[in-house]
Amino acid sequence: MKKLLALAIAAALIPVTAALAAPPAPKASGIESKDYQWAKMEGELKEALAKKGNIKRGKETYEICGACHLPSGAGRPDGTFPQLAGQHTTVLIKQMADIRVGLRDNPTMYPFAKEMTDPQDLADTSAYIEGLCIPVDHGKYEGADAAKQIAAGKDLYEKQCKECHGANGDGNKEKFYPVIAGQHYKYLLRQMTEIRDGHRRNANPDMVKVIKPYTGDQLVAISAYQASLSMPGSMCKPKAGGKKK
Ligand code: HEC
Ligand code: HEC
Repeated sequence: MKKLLALAIAAALIPVTAALAAPPAPKASGIESKDYQWAKMEGELKEALAKKGNIKRGKETYEICGACHLPSGAGRPDGTFPQLAGQHTTVLIKQMADIRVGLRDNPTMYPFAKEMTDPQDLADTSAYIEGLCIPVDHGKYEGADAAKQIAAGKDLYEKQCKECHGANGDGNKEKFYPVIAGQHYKYLLRQMTEIRDGHRRNANPDMVKVIKPYTGDQLVAISAYQASLSMPGSMCKPKAGGKKK
């Protein structure tokens, strides 16, 4: 485990593009395939969801993840590593399971995801992450026209995204809809571009329908808006990390 942690720290320090020499994730066709079934309740997803997560154990199993996602779960404002803090356990477990079976590409993280084979470890790690408060000083849209972009993004979001991702970006735990509040602008933009263009193979087909016609400018506006959302009661106090109250 110690060796893996050192490897994680090394991997966190080199740019994502220069990913470490790791086996590529196995390929699965996912959303492009005609028998794709989103969030299919089988295998690891089903097993890990059936376990009760132990937060104390999860703090230990999370250690290796913190090398990239930071001990606070804040990720990086430049969007290379997403914020995880406060994310629903269901979403965390689904994403991890998808990365492991090759339904979502993540060459940087794959060597570490590959090691977390025990469904109990997945459940524990996720329970710990879900309990972390959402950092407030994350990456936002920084252009001079921020107010305009955010307003345009709000319009789109309320019409087309709110029913799934919630008015405050709180997602939906039962339905595997991710928390978006507090997520870094650049990560949001990258994910939405990948989902729109069919490169995130574990995407939700109903969301893909909504986002398919979006232009690059619309994705910028909606990412700017999403990065401005906050979930009352789940956010950290400014400049302080720690547990949700
Ligand atoms: C070497 C760096 C690294 C390590 C270590 C790492 N991750 Fe990641 N993780 C990433 C990167 C990079 C992404 C974003 C990939 C992308 O852009 O799609 C990511 C994405 C994720 C996501 C998807 C987030 C979302 O919003 O959909 C989850 C969940 C996650 N990681 C959990 C973990 C857990 C749990 C661990 C510990 C077992 C871990 N990561 C260890 C680099 C890392
Ligand atoms: C039908 C419900 C639904 C709708 C409508 C929807 N989404 Fe999603 N969205 C999802 C689900 C589910 C995921 C996670 C997909 C997966 O399982 O990997 C997701 C993922 C995302 C992500 C990636 C989050 C992450 O942590 O990686 C972003 C960003 C996002 N949605 C933004 C939007 C925006 C913006 C809209 C409106 C244009 C929208 N969504 C509409 C269900 C929806």
